[in-house]
Amino acid sequence: MVATFGLLLLFGLILQAVAADDARRIRIATAHSALTLLVGEDGRVYELGYGSVNKNGFSHERTPAREQEFYPQAGDGFVLEPALQATHADGNVSTDLIYLRHKAQVVTTNISLTRIELKDPAYQFFVTLCLKAYASEDVIEQWTEIRNGENGAVTLDRFASSAPLLHAKEYWLTQFQGDYRREATLSEEKLTPGTKVLDSKIGTRATRYRIPSFILSLNGPAQEDSGEVFGGSLAWPGSFQMAFDVDWNNHLRALCGINPFGEEYHLKPGETFTTPAMLWTWSNEGKGQVSRNFHRWARSYGIRDGDTPRPVLLNNWEATEFNFNEKIIVSLFDGAKELGADLFLLDDGWFGNAHARTNDAAGLGDWQVNTNRLPHGLSYLAAQANQRGIRFGIWLEPEMVDPASDLYELHPEWAIGQPHRAPDLFRNQLGLDLSRPAVRDFVWQSIDDTLKPNPGITYLKWDANRYVTQPGSTYLPAGEQSHLLVDYNFALLNIMSQLAKNYPQVTAMLCSGGGGRVDYGALKYFHTFWPSDNTDPRDRVFIQWGFSHFFPAITMSDHVTKMGNRPLKFALDVAMSGTLGMDLDVSKLSADERATVAAGIALYKNELCDMTLRGNLYRLESPYDHPRAALDFVASDGSRAVLFVYQLQDAANKTVKLRGLDPQMRYRIDEVNLPAGEKSKLAANGQTIDGATLMRDGLVPPCQKEFESSVIELAGEK
Ligand code: GLA
Repeated sequence: MVATFGLLLLFGLILQAVAADDARRIRIATAHSALTLLVGEDGRVYELGYGSVNKNGFSHERTPAREQEFYPQAGDGFVLEPALQATHADGNVSTDLIYLRHKAQVVTTNISLTRIELKDPAYQFFVTLCLKAYASEDVIEQWTEIRNGENGAVTLDRFASSAPLLHAKEYWLTQFQGDYRREATLSEEKLTPGTKVLDSKIGTRATRYRIPSFILSLNGPAQEDSGEVFGGSLAWPGSFQMAFDVDWNNHLRALCGINPFGEEYHLKPGETFTTPAMLWTWSNEGKGQVSRNFHRWARSYGIRDGDTPRPVLLNNWEATEFNFNEKIIVSLFDGAKELGADLFLLDDGWFGNAHARTNDAAGLGDWQVNTNRLPHGLSYLAAQANQRGIRFGIWLEPEMVDPASDLYELHPEWAIGQPHRAPDLFRNQLGLDLSRPAVRDFVWQSIDDTLKPNPGITYLKWDANRYVTQPGSTYLPAGEQSHLLVDYNFALLNIMSQLAKNYPQVTAMLCSGGGGRVDYGALKYFHTFWPSDNTDPRDRVFIQWGFSHFFPAITMSDHVTKMGNRPLKFALDVAMSGTLGMDLDVSKLSADERATVAAGIALYKNELCDMTLRGNLYRLESPYDHPRAALDFVASDGSRAVLFVYQLQDAANKTVKLRGLDPQMRYRIDEVNLPAGEKSKLAANGQTIDGATLMRDGLVPPCQKEFESSVIELAGEK
């Protein structure tokens, strides 16, 4: 009955979404948000507002000012940052887009798709604005299709995916920047008049210095549980540009898409260019709700198998790096099993013969097993793992080539590079030119030739350890060199989608020299991503905190390692709040340490992962503002929750107030993951307290000293 009512309600919302308020209004609505557009009397499409579903927008004029155009074009009267800039076949640098028609279609009970068709009255040049609304997640996905019906090539100089206009007194922008080993570092600033650009120009695995996701808070810094906040995330693994332009009316335009820098695109007659999708979500309950919207959307639509817990894996990279052979690898399997791992992941170093991959200077591109190190091959290793009851996985870096490789000796022209420039090596390697069809075939073949003959491989870590510093292709003609990075990334996504389609049984991790490729374009074909090569749990608290703004815990591979020499319990407690794994030399652990890890894994698998991976996240205390970090996850029906507290500096223990609980529900409080034989020092341990009290008065976790941590389970007893 309740479910039927819910469905009817959703269906009603969709009908509301697809029905134009009047003939000239187009409204794209979700459960709580709406984007309202207006076809002006001049035929241009204007934006009336994006925000609460209860508001109709900030302008009621029949033909608003040009600054309010929804997808502004350069050249004919628009004087601000345009979403689209094109040079037509006759050299005209201006474009006018006039409304032709729009169509709203119900895709599912939760999803509607609105397509708004526009045309330049003077040219056979067509643009379709596509807006997909996910009602219950409050997400609007926007992309643009640009079709050249002219007689000659049209050059696209700028081609944003989305460029909505926001209206408030103040705009506060939070970005997530960083570098290798300090990914997704949060910083927030108030926007001032003019244009603030957040971008990446490094072409592939483009998120090394910044992810293409941001938070925009209206009228004050973003709060976790109050205030109007937008979240944006571009589904594209290549160079991106987010330009935030505050104009003289104090409107903010957020232009988001592929970075036009060095990527102008020539569209041949008859061709259509489809931009990547930009994801937007809105909430008037703070950035916590924005994150939960993204998380729910991702689990249902944005990643592979969003409802299925990931295997707990043991990776050999930090334990062995390149120093292993078959005997050593097999010897690690028993330890993996003893700890309770589900899978062993063999990292870098298993391939290359003439150019053996025994260090990071050789072998990339030669994806044949190294017969010296692993004489019985990969299927043998998989069988050995399977015999011990664990699955087997492998590392690949399929887009790359080392100059010291058979592949490079055969095809030096396949590497990305430029004439008259000495190759700019990075980690001794070059990137392969995916704009060339033969290279695409080779890359796919390398993956297929590794997986097909070895069905025992059921996990793939896809790495990419360099970006592009010399964009140039021996395949593309002189006039199309600027296509390289666009073509590369579309080809890359295509190969990734082939992997997902052909190998549904292979769990896949997206890695890129740490977290150099974290975006919803690539993640669609993966189960998890590797946030950082920095696994020091102290730093991981910050890195995981940053990524959690957009990506759910089920996507974050968080491993327990010895990095930083922190207490093992602290390392476990931090890794357990995401997708738990390990990168440890089990033989070097003491019996006590082994027991601690095994107990932690069992707890995670049997009790916690259901809440962390499928529940709703509430960030309670930010490590940026407090001597500790605290977060809780609540099962979607409110019946169970888990609280994590990580002490990062010495401080007197203070109350932490929980959020997201069912106020009526009574919860039994149990501190878990305690060292063997130790009793909890939590005063409320074992007590039963109602949700309203826990949210109002909180708990006092027993953490005071740096690197103390606490995991507290709350089990509802209605
Ligand atoms: C990258 C990854 C690591 C590891 C190494 C192997 O740095 O981020 O996890 O796989 O490559 O070379």
